[in-house]
Amino acid sequence: MRVFVTGGTGAIGGHTVPALLHAGHTVTALARTPEKAAVLAAQGATPVTVSLFDSSALAAAFAGHDAVLNLATAMPSMTRFMIRRAWRATERVRIDGSTAVVDAALAAGVERVVQESVAMLYRDNGSAWIDEDAPVDHYPAATGNHAAEANAHRFAETGGTAIVLRFGLFYGPGARHSEHMFAQARRHVGLVLGPPESFLSSIHLTDAATAVTAALRAPTGVFNVVDDEPLTKREYADALAQAAYATPWVRIPGRAGLLFGDRLTSLTRSLRVSNARFRTATGWSARYPSAREGWVATAAELSQGTL
Ligand SMILES: NC(=O)c1ccc[n+]([C@@H]2O[C@H](COP(=O)([O-])OP(=O)(O)OC[C@H]3O[C@@H](n4cnc5c(N)ncnc54)[C@H](OP(=O)(O)O)[C@@H]3O)[C@@H](O)[C@H]2O)c1
Repeated sequence: MRVFVTGGTGAIGGHTVPALLHAGHTVTALARTPEKAAVLAAQGATPVTVSLFDSSALAAAFAGHDAVLNLATAMPSMTRFMIRRAWRATERVRIDGSTAVVDAALAAGVERVVQESVAMLYRDNGSAWIDEDAPVDHYPAATGNHAAEANAHRFAETGGTAIVLRFGLFYGPGARHSEHMFAQARRHVGLVLGPPESFLSSIHLTDAATAVTAALRAPTGVFNVVDDEPLTKREYADALAQAAYATPWVRIPGRAGLLFGDRLTSLTRSLRVSNARFRTATGWSARYPSAREGWVATAAELSQGTL
């Protein structure tokens, strides 16, 4: 297929562009700077510099493509997660950007749109499993995700194929927050996001990338993209510590995270999310069944770098 990728230079995109090329697709990707254009070109993609908010220019760029993969986001770093204004750039990308992308895809006659979303939209469900029919929640940081999902549904209503991928908390080389968490683990600081017995659904970036590629053969729908075995927050912190060969001496913020209410709710709620529907629909499977295996691989790769 001929695919156009936005966000191809980000954490998920940086793994997705090579995965798409490896699968035999022809890839065009949005580049915001000459440096990013050079990275994309070195990977084998064709970079195009165009505004995410200019639907006419996007339509011209999308012409001749079979699918558009909208992976653009601008999330604040975890240290700025609780500052409301830090989410404005994300909201613009997710609300105005996804609107322009769908308008342009419709104008250009693109057949398929894949929209990134997050599994953190689901309500806390304790230790019970969550599938795509479970109720979602509306809280401030989720506003942009709901808008982006609505734009994907608008595309499907016109007869196109629209796939929404609700990713778990991603981790792996290239995700700044997980590189930061790994560095902290090496200093014996264990991060437990919420009650230790609550669940966290994660996805390694390698698996996120193959899932985006698999979405090119999915039918219209909403799909969870998470690994097979969500861990409890305590198990997740222990897996990270074990991968970093460090016993956690300090654990933060644990239950204290609940005090921040809807400013941290995407990270503190208990989400035991199932990937069964996506596996059945596409035949995709996760290389790293849980964060235990994924963090060992991540640690090996990060240790070869600067750490
Ligand atoms: N998603 C999670 O699970 C999660 C959880 C906790 C923390 N975080 C943290 O959040 C931070 C950001 O991560 P992220 O998920 O937003 O991904 P990211 O790695 O920053 O990638 C975002 C992608 O969208 C593009 N983009 C951003 N603004 C754009 C715009 N206005 N127009 C066109 N393209 C635009 C970026 O382009 P450029 O390359 O040109 O910038 C990049 O390709 C990181 O520090 C991450 O660690 C993420």
